[in-house]
Amino acid sequence: MDSNKWKGKFCIEVSPIPNILVIFGASGDLAHRKLIPALFSLFTKNLLHQKSKVIGCARSQMSDSEFKNKVEESLLKYIPNLDKSKLVEFLDKLNYISGQYNEAKTYNALLSKIEELEAKINTETGRIFYLSTPPTIYFTIVKQLGLSKLTDENEEGVPWRNVVLEKPFGRDLKTAKELDSQLRSVLNERQIYRIDHYLGKETVQNILMLRFANIMFEPIWNNKYIDNVQIMVGESVGIGNRAGYYDSYGHLRDMFQNHILQMLALVAMEPPTSFESNHIRNEKVKVLEAIKPFPINELDKHIVRGQYEKGEVDGEKVDGYLDENNIPEDSMTESFVAGKFLIDNWRWKGVPFYMRSGKRMKERLTEIKITFKKVPYSIFNPIQAEDLSPNILTLNVQPDEGLALSIQAKQPGPKLCMGDLTMDFKYNEIFGGDKPEAYERLLLDTMLADQTLFIRSDFIDLSWGLFTPVLEAWEKGNHPLYKYKAGSWGPKEACKLLVQDGFCWCDCN
Ligand code: BG6
Repeated sequence: MDSNKWKGKFCIEVSPIPNILVIFGASGDLAHRKLIPALFSLFTKNLLHQKSKVIGCARSQMSDSEFKNKVEESLLKYIPNLDKSKLVEFLDKLNYISGQYNEAKTYNALLSKIEELEAKINTETGRIFYLSTPPTIYFTIVKQLGLSKLTDENEEGVPWRNVVLEKPFGRDLKTAKELDSQLRSVLNERQIYRIDHYLGKETVQNILMLRFANIMFEPIWNNKYIDNVQIMVGESVGIGNRAGYYDSYGHLRDMFQNHILQMLALVAMEPPTSFESNHIRNEKVKVLEAIKPFPINELDKHIVRGQYEKGEVDGEKVDGYLDENNIPEDSMTESFVAGKFLIDNWRWKGVPFYMRSGKRMKERLTEIKITFKKVPYSIFNPIQAEDLSPNILTLNVQPDEGLALSIQAKQPGPKLCMGDLTMDFKYNEIFGGDKPEAYERLLLDTMLADQTLFIRSDFIDLSWGLFTPVLEAWEKGNHPLYKYKAGSWGPKEACKLLVQDGFCWCDCN
């Protein structure tokens, strides 16, 4: 750590109570690739209470020791330089129950197991049920949890019985509302933890620190000083082996309704009263309430979609979307979306927020760029105000996490030479490369019953309210689906979105 640049001062320590964490879908990819490695990492940092236990639950028949062997294999695969001295102790926390998700006997077995573990631990524990399963069976599981009284809480909700759900939450406003009312027939909002893993990313969390722990940004964080905001989530990967899910959901549902809107809300929200979960979530919801609906009669001027064709990414030739395994040859599913969002409130009126995201783009890059207005007048005759570049604040979310501010500066020497100078900091240089994975932070928060980084149902409704008319218009088929070459920054029509307003993506191709 570079001690000239970083002086850590305040650390709010957290220590979870004993919890029993049940992972449904425990033999699946997410559990082995992300969840269990994240739990192991928390364990090595003493952030998993020593009395906490994990129960894997899935349909595959397996004994406890077979499950432990599989977990060990995954940990060795997914955690480089794993601390083997901790492995035996961690594996000792694991248990496994197999059963059908719709059968009461699975939940009876689970209840007995939990009671047995609690008796051994000799204390009441928080119970967390993580649904790492297809969304189609969320309610099947939650209903059974309710019937077997596994999620029953006292009035204060301590110790808690919480349910964690992965996206997607529905596929439009109607289905999201249906799912929500099903969940609410068993659980309180306080018990529902809807994950958006982008909120667990360090750089995304840092948006709030940057904005509200520094005085210098807030006075200029508005339409007087900001010209436009760009949020970009580019992925170089294609759809991998998720054709079934991705082709029926598409990119707007996969990335915009959740990750991108979350980042927009953090950039645009008003200062919350405190860093308390509902204060933050209230402000985020207000941003969504102020986003202007997309005008359906002029939709293509506000939001465009694209689909990749074959091309080259990272020096390798790759197939087009339609040639991917298990994708119908006439699929109209979008793998790219760019949109212009307008927020109708005092702070943001007139500032366009341009969002762009796609698969098989030139590189993996997630960043937020805040472009300030140009100076109103230049005293550096003959250089004119319009010749001077605007200041740009870039929040690099990944892969090169950090922050950069471009300013105008003088080049040393007798002549008047000005140019763009970038002041930047990179997480890796200051804190080293060992950042916690997003899931680590989110799992920790579920064990602390802190909902700040989880999505409330009103946010979900508003986000679907914004995008459902767009999805319906696209489904009617009279809006273009532009092709773009794999390895590019998307279709050129995405550039036109900005050019029509006199702007440009920072990398128009
Ligand atoms: C997921 C999407 O939510 O986020 C994937 O379903 C996408 O399609 C992924 O690839 C991107 O996450 P990250 O953390 O790699 O940017």
